[in-house]
Amino acid sequence: MTQTQMPPAAMTSSPTASDAPAFSRRAALMLAGGALASATVFAPNIARAAAPFAFPPLPYPEDALVPTISARTVGLHYGKHSKGYYDKVNQLAAGKPYADMTLAEIVVAAKKSGDTAMFNQAAQAWNHDLYWASFKGGFQQPDAAFAKVVDQQFGSLEILSRKMVETGDTVFGTGWVWLVKDGDKLDIIGMKDGMNPLADGKTTLVGVDVWEHAYYLDYENRRAAHVDAVLKKLVNWQVVSDRFG
Ligand SMILES: [Fe+2]
Repeated sequence: MTQTQMPPAAMTSSPTASDAPAFSRRAALMLAGGALASATVFAPNIARAAAPFAFPPLPYPEDALVPTISARTVGLHYGKHSKGYYDKVNQLAAGKPYADMTLAEIVVAAKKSGDTAMFNQAAQAWNHDLYWASFKGGFQQPDAAFAKVVDQQFGSLEILSRKMVETGDTVFGTGWVWLVKDGDKLDIIGMKDGMNPLADGKTTLVGVDVWEHAYYLDYENRRAAHVDAVLKKLVNWQVVSDRFG
């Protein structure tokens, strides 16, 4: 098992803003690209390789996202939903070949084999790791290189964010809106339930959870307002820039 294959679940301590990007760049160079490259961009800690996965600590206090996301929502979302996915993955992996895989490898393998029960849990565990890590440090503007790519393709971060809000609104029921790196281009994708771009050869840059558990206590049925606020007030676009590479 190489360090480039370590999953986000392998974290036994909270990552720092400085080491995550460094690992990201190293991983990007060492891998040929594709699914597992995107899986490692926020997984700097390599203490554990496989299941049972330690539930990664929230990298900030539960009230750090107020007022955009309440402490109660974070407490339930992180403490119940995110943790529940990890617990289930560990139950399902026990005694099976999955136990020797990284979380990202499980996501890809379960999707490929049609193991929906495992895929749903593992993907959601991975998705939420990326989600929580995207807010560490609070809102920050993208770096110059990433901002240039955004401006060239979308015109501005404001327009990119608006398109993510629009795409998030088109997801019927539960799901995610993803910003991904596809080759040298950016792409915005809405996906159902726990689906993510991990197995599609794209690098996942940021994902906004549009399951109702992510916003209903704070925004009731106003999903678009929630996604808009998350993108404009919470996402650390410097972190996203580092994932872009
Ligand atoms: Fe969620």
